[in-house]
Amino acid sequence: MGGIFVSHRVNVRILAAVSAVALWATACVKDNNTTAPVIAKDNTFVGYSDPATQQTTCGNCHVLKQETWAKTGHAKAWANLQASGHASASCDQCHTVSGLTNIAKDSSGYFTVAADAKKYYQDVQCESCHGPGAAHVAVPDETQPIPYLVSKDTTLNVGCGMCHSGPPHNPFYEDWSRGAHGGMVAHAVANTNCWPCHNGKTAEARFGGSNTYVEASNSNPMPIGCTTCHNPHGSDNTNELRESITVRDTTNLCIQCHKREPFPDPSNKYGPHYPAGMVFLGDAGWFPPGFTWDSTNIPTHSDPSVNKTLCATCHLGQINVNNGAGKLAWHYTGHSFWAIPCVDTAGIDSTNSCDVSQRDFSACTGSGCHASQDAARALFESIGQEMSYLTNTLWVDSNGNGKVDTTDGGLLAKVPPTEFAADTIITTAEGALWNVQLVTKDKSQGVHNPPFEKALLIATIEAVQQRYGVAAPPAVQALIAREGSRLGVRIAR
Ligand code: HEC
Ligand code: HEC
Ligand code: HEC
Ligand code: HEC
Ligand code: HEC
Ligand code: HEC
Ligand code: HEC
Ligand code: HEC
Repeated sequence: MGGIFVSHRVNVRILAAVSAVALWATACVKDNNTTAPVIAKDNTFVGYSDPATQQTTCGNCHVLKQETWAKTGHAKAWANLQASGHASASCDQCHTVSGLTNIAKDSSGYFTVAADAKKYYQDVQCESCHGPGAAHVAVPDETQPIPYLVSKDTTLNVGCGMCHSGPPHNPFYEDWSRGAHGGMVAHAVANTNCWPCHNGKTAEARFGGSNTYVEASNSNPMPIGCTTCHNPHGSDNTNELRESITVRDTTNLCIQCHKREPFPDPSNKYGPHYPAGMVFLGDAGWFPPGFTWDSTNIPTHSDPSVNKTLCATCHLGQINVNNGAGKLAWHYTGHSFWAIPCVDTAGIDSTNSCDVSQRDFSACTGSGCHASQDAARALFESIGQEMSYLTNTLWVDSNGNGKVDTTDGGLLAKVPPTEFAADTIITTAEGALWNVQLVTKDKSQGVHNPPFEKALLIATIEAVQQRYGVAAPPAVQALIAREGSRLGVRIAR
């Protein structure tokens, strides 16, 4: 600051330090003038230009951003803090524009200004993410505050995770970090064909995000981060999501990515690409001749009139984990995307590996669909057993080499190996193999679409028996006769 008071912004700080309140008061009494005192704002953060209408200084030029931001929860951050009845100084850094949750940690912004200027810095405004903007506002073309895409960068103090983490609230950042979206698949990093789903930056552009941010010029892929799914400037969807979570089709946020390779294709040597979303829709797999499935009329988990937020209902359930002594151990935000997370007295197991008895099934009861967690757990186990019974009837990969061998278990091992030849024809055996992989790689153990997955496997077993003259054990015959007629499964004879 050089000691010379060249700008009024420097004076602001001095005034604030001396005691702005006392100086203004003296001025008013002495001059008795009617012009309102000029409110001295911070010298780096510009904040609101009109707090009463929540007009940001930035938004005077970036008009569209102002319009959409004003509808976000960020514009209500201060009002909700006050309404909570628990507001204290410790809350302010995340509910205002300040240097504390921002680039180059300091106490500027909300914390430095005098009492009469504080209202200009309430709420999570543009500069809470973009950093101080006074220099850019002075010379808009040359000094633009540049947004960051990172979920959290502790060295720079930037990213959504600066506020959306740890106590006192909800550890969105921590939960996200340990879930699969916070990681990267090595194979997919190297191949740009994989980036639309495996690189957060490419996916974000696909969902209409801008390509203007610090890391845009960096060619390294990034994880599926906060701004891949959430638009920081607002959207027409709940929680500023870039795509809808309520539509039951491939434009659904989750299904946009969880839909790859649902149908057999002779040129694909890897099988289905974990297309959970397509299984959920009942629009996947090899259909034996004569088998039909009305994917629009399924009264279970994928019925949007019962389950409004579809994937999110199960995969983003929030849970208060108790430490056993009546205290909160962890508020799980759902952002690891685990449907039935492993809970213990310390919180949530970060590897998500545990016995089914330790898993939390509250996402199943919250919506009023299942009477209790235990009831849901029992159903989960029985559907899972039924699915593996049916898939094992078709194929047990005894030596674990991923290929059907005559020494393997199940009906497919009895089919002539020539039926699995690498050619352009999809045989019944290859279609059946695809369906086994589909249900297995869906990884929900049948939960995503119980009637569809069961019907598809039953039809497949029937088709394999009929085509190759092989027979499943009598117990399976009984099951497919009973369940097949209940579900209306038919194939061409
Ligand atoms: C006086 C008008 C004005 C104000 C006020 C203003 N900007 Fe800008 N801003 C501009 C102009 C002009 C550009 C350059 C536009 C371009 O290159 O597309 C720009 C560019 C930007 C960019 C880069 C966009 C890009 O495409 O490169 C960001 C980010 C940005 N402004 C954010 C802000 C923030 C945050 C504030 C408030 C601190 C703010 N602006 C205030 C006029 C303004
Ligand atoms: C580390 C940053 C941080 C601090 C400190 C902080 N908050 Fe928040 N607060 C957030 C974030 C992020 C959200 C929105 C997401 C959420 O619910 O966790 C939020 C949301 C809220 C909400 C709105 C909840 C709702 O949905 O209606 C209230 C009320 C609130 N905070 C009160 C407080 C109070 C009271 C304090 C101080 C005791 C405080 N906050 C301190 C970051 C913070
Ligand atoms: C919650 C954090 C956050 C807030 C609040 C926020 N931005 Fe952004 N902004 C970002 C991020 C992240 C990007 C880059 C990625 C993207 O565009 O989605 C960005 C990009 C931009 C861009 C350049 C890209 C484009 O779409 O033109 C401009 C301009 C911009 N923001 C202006 C604003 C203005 C003006 C406000 C306030 C009205 C604001 N931002 C509020 C995080 C935020
Ligand atoms: C300066 C702190 C801060 C930063 C940085 C921040 N947030 Fe927030 N965020 C909050 C607070 C506080 C709330 C609670 C607002 C309220 O009272 O409803 C919130 C609410 C939200 C909500 C709930 C929205 C709603 O409409 O209720 C979402 C989603 C969200 N933030 C996403 C993001 C994303 C994505 C980023 C990064 C691009 C981000 N936030 C950066 C503080 C922050
Ligand atoms: C249409 C979107 C999409 C494309 C394109 C895509 N993937 Fe995936 N991939 C996914 C999804 C979604 C998952 C995770 C699903 C799951 O685990 O159930 C996944 C999972 C994977 C896994 C397993 C990861 C694990 O942790 O088990 C590998 C390996 C993989 N993909 C590699 C690739 C490669 C290599 C490419 C490009 C040749 C690619 N993917 C292209 C959506 C896609
Ligand atoms: C793969 C997509 C995805 C990613 C990545 C993601 N979110 Fe979310 N987030 C969602 C969905 C979907 C919801 C809405 C859940 C619902 O409505 O049931 C949500 C809801 C939220 C909410 C509001 C929760 C509430 O209590 O209402 C906040 C805050 C939030 N996310 C913050 C974040 C932050 C911070 C990050 C990055 C650390 C992040 N999200 C990453 C999909 C995502
Ligand atoms: C931008 C693409 C994309 C979007 C959008 C997306 N996912 Fe994912 N998801 C992936 C990829 C890629 C993986 C695998 C990442 C890995 O293994 O590193 C994955 C992994 C997962 C996993 C863990 C799978 C496992 O085997 O551990 C779950 C669960 C999941 N996603 C659920 C969801 C839900 C629910 C939504 C919607 C709220 C969603 N995803 C949105 C791409 C996406
Ligand atoms: C009715 C609840 C429910 C719905 C709705 C749901 N899932 Fe699941 N999902 C589950 C369960 C239960 C599992 C098995 C989790 C486990 O075993 O840890 C699972 C597993 C998964 C997995 C593999 C996760 C892992 O850790 O291995 C992915 C990926 C996934 N679901 C994605 C989705 C997508 C995408 C949607 C929406 C199209 C969706 N799910 C809808 C309950 C649901």
